[in-house]
Amino acid sequence: MGTADESLRKTALVTGASGGIGRALALECVRRGLRVVAVGRNSEELASLSSSAGGPQGSIIAVSHDLLAPGSTATLVDFLQRRDITVDLLINCAGRGLLAPFDSVAADAQRDVLRLNFEVPIELTHALLPALKTRRGAVLNIASLVAFLPAPGLSMLAASKTALVSWSVALRRELLGTVSVTAFCPGVTRTAFLQRAGMAHLQLERSFIATSPAVVAAKALDAVGRNKAVAFATPIDRVAALVCKLLPGWASAAAVAHLLGQFKRASSGST
Ligand SMILES: NC(=O)c1ccc[n+]([C@@H]2O[C@H](COP(=O)([O-])OP(=O)(O)OC[C@H]3O[C@@H](n4cnc5c(N)ncnc54)[C@H](OP(=O)(O)O)[C@@H]3O)[C@@H](O)[C@H]2O)c1
Repeated sequence: MGTADESLRKTALVTGASGGIGRALALECVRRGLRVVAVGRNSEELASLSSSAGGPQGSIIAVSHDLLAPGSTATLVDFLQRRDITVDLLINCAGRGLLAPFDSVAADAQRDVLRLNFEVPIELTHALLPALKTRRGAVLNIASLVAFLPAPGLSMLAASKTALVSWSVALRRELLGTVSVTAFCPGVTRTAFLQRAGMAHLQLERSFIATSPAVVAAKALDAVGRNKAVAFATPIDRVAALVCKLLPGWASAAAVAHLLGQFKRASSGST
């Protein structure tokens, strides 16, 4: 048990806190006075997060945990119950993408993208909702600008984020007056994501539209504070989403295929 002072502190659970945007969100939460349950697989990165977070002792509770493991949500909820931890803010940030022709990737790996990006947030939210309602808490879903784009070569990433935004907005209406739900849609952000997704050769992180994870984290928490339904990190991202929504799907898909032209060349060269 923590001190009396600690028991008064609000708690955020952040998935994907071992790196990138999730790490930045965990740090920003601590900076704003929250205690953080930091979830990720890489225990070394979680330990490094704990040591660099600052804040009062116990500000970070690191949980090395594979969200794709069978029974993962139940295990995590059991951990919280055993430690008597009640979550005020659930941040679903863990995610992955795969840049590759759809049929070149095993069906299980495609399903894992959908599972991590969409199904795990659903399961965690469902499991934590009773406590979130009692605490009049919040859910922050880290979606993506790609939610507004049918993206050839990234079809599962785009589909999972589209679903995440749609579900967030609908759930927000269902929970009106109890739990606030925000879908935050970053554009290109300088993290390991692009490399992990096989997109390093596109060098998107060098473009003028790329943002730092710290900026994304601060804007995302601001959006929760202002109880926004859907929010963006930069004005450029907001305009890009608007344009994408106005375009017919076939035109957006063609634009993305053009943007990922190097990907097309790379894949045709390899076959
Ligand atoms: N970077 C961008 O340009 C960008 C743009 C828009 C949206 N986003 C979204 O932002 C979110 C965070 O991405 P990021 O850029 O921070 O990427 P990242 O640096 O690759 O971080 C991904 C995080 O997810 C965790 N993760 C992956 N698989 C996991 C699993 N099975 N179980 C538990 N944790 C797992 C990783 O931790 P471990 O490896 O330790 O498991 C890591 O902490 C994602 O949802 C992504 O779609 C990113």
